[in-house]
Amino acid sequence: MCGIVGYVGNGSARETIIDGLKKLEYRGYDSSGIAFCTDGKIEIRKCVGRIHNLEELLSKETLDSHVGIGHTRWATHGAPSDVNAHPHANGDSSIAIVHNGIIENYVEIKEWLAQDYGVNFLSETDSEVIAHLIGVYYNGNLEDAVYKAVDKMRGAYALCVISKNEPDKIVAVRKDAPLIAGIGHGCNFIASDIPALLKYVREIYLIENNETVVITADEIKIYNAQRERVHRDVFHVTWDADAAEKDGYSHFMLKEIHEQPKGLYETLHRRLDENGEIVLDGISMTKADIENFNKVYIVACGTAYHAGLVGKSAIEKMAHIPVEVEVASEFRYRDPFVDDKTLFIAISQSGETLDTLAALREAKSKGARVLSVVNVVGSSVARESDDVFYTWAGPEIAVASTKAYTTQLMCMYMIALYMGRTKGTVEESYYRAFLTELSEIPEKLKAVLENESEIEALAKELYKKEQVFFIGRGPDAGVSYEGSLKLKEISYINSFAIAAGELKHGTIALIEKDTVVVALATQDKLFEKMLSNIQEVKARGAYVIGLAKEGNKEIEKQADKVIYIPDCIDEITPLLSVVPLQILAYYIAKERGCDIDKPKNLAKSVTVE
Ligand code: AGP
Repeated sequence: MCGIVGYVGNGSARETIIDGLKKLEYRGYDSSGIAFCTDGKIEIRKCVGRIHNLEELLSKETLDSHVGIGHTRWATHGAPSDVNAHPHANGDSSIAIVHNGIIENYVEIKEWLAQDYGVNFLSETDSEVIAHLIGVYYNGNLEDAVYKAVDKMRGAYALCVISKNEPDKIVAVRKDAPLIAGIGHGCNFIASDIPALLKYVREIYLIENNETVVITADEIKIYNAQRERVHRDVFHVTWDADAAEKDGYSHFMLKEIHEQPKGLYETLHRRLDENGEIVLDGISMTKADIENFNKVYIVACGTAYHAGLVGKSAIEKMAHIPVEVEVASEFRYRDPFVDDKTLFIAISQSGETLDTLAALREAKSKGARVLSVVNVVGSSVARESDDVFYTWAGPEIAVASTKAYTTQLMCMYMIALYMGRTKGTVEESYYRAFLTELSEIPEKLKAVLENESEIEALAKELYKKEQVFFIGRGPDAGVSYEGSLKLKEISYINSFAIAAGELKHGTIALIEKDTVVVALATQDKLFEKMLSNIQEVKARGAYVIGLAKEGNKEIEKQADKVIYIPDCIDEITPLLSVVPLQILAYYIAKERGCDIDKPKNLAKSVTVE
């Protein structure tokens, strides 16, 4: 949610910042801007729209500098517009800031600045107050002014500040919004996320909450909230730069769909030893801890929440512990019953989703043990958890999550299996057979991906539809929610998912002639029930696309079209069945001419409430 890049060095701030912003566009893309310290003043250029609009604006002049800050915005306060775009400056343009987050008491600060200092505000944003606040406090030392401003602010922020009076530095500070500093040679960087800097550096500092960073071309100094200098170990980034490129695919989403066999293989094999035993290296949860749990909460948002739904069935079945799955934004305000017998599992691709992070803190404060399933190494959720089970999906750039979901599922199966085995609720033969099934998934998934053209053809038939329903039972219900979310978020088709047995309790009223219903029927023991549900919607005129395991030909008699997935045990079909739905959503959105990697109104990382 909003991306920040800053550069101080001997090279071109303009080139580095524009390049970094393009890599961060997934975080927000309604407007962008850049501020330079140059010739004793601050120059700001900003405009509504994507980064290429900013590039076009800048192409009209040679403006550049060795110090600058840039921003790509996801609007919270104030509509996307040139004036609301960041950077924002104070009245005499001696200070400029870029901000990611929300200043909750901005109205109060705004009133105070207007009354006591006669400040005029140009934008409708909460962020503009920060520039004026720092301007009011500025007395020859930018760090001092930033500290004083931060003291007055409530909310979440990753903030970068430049001053025309101290043109060789950037001061940055974070609270509940991500920030990293990149260590260059003769130059240094600041950014919201690693992809922005991959082209330039592999060594970074992860900035902690409430820390302030002072960046010059030669040095990066980190200070804690008490203004004491702190030592930080260098974090070595292992991703290669190509991982954040499209690599010949027309969209990141399609590339990431195709990366799933590899991501699943890595996620599984990095935690298996030579004897095929699951090893939880670096995870401190003991047998006694596992035996102590009497309840599990799985808490997440969006796609990660859907992975949690599948995780619930697996943990309950294998570890015999009741599991509740809840969206983080509800959990955090509900005062849930959590104690030291609770295992709290947070699932998050980015590890920066604010609601998930807040729910985690809430659970931790009540004594829960926190295990997180996270993709981004060193992210806030990872750092604040007792233990982390990393997904090995690699960087996920497309806003629509694909490979993060399937690797999250893999982790959930492994956690369930490990807990069951440790508690003795899973027998050796089941454990072995289940692991064998999991290890066959990457190859089976390749077979699913070979059917891409068939699904593309189906998308060409369906792309003009304005309504699509997804139904399923058991694990298929969870996958239905995910298939529906994928379709609506990138194609803007109105879509709804429901447990198939629940249809007749109301939703079936919406089924009429030619309504498209995607019916997931991959569960052997629920197959006949699903055939009945398909008949019910067919009887009302629906056009049904069935999804079943190879061999279950019976479905062809009921459905208008059938997509098959390779045979596997019922429990793990979500690892395969979601993929045709991702591909279907992708090609439907493509036919509709949608901006697939950057859908309207969305951002990859939701770091505001
Ligand atoms: C799904 O395609 C979305 N991008 C969204 O629902 C996402 O899964 C959600 O915002 C949670 O993000 P996280 O995994 O980074 O916490």
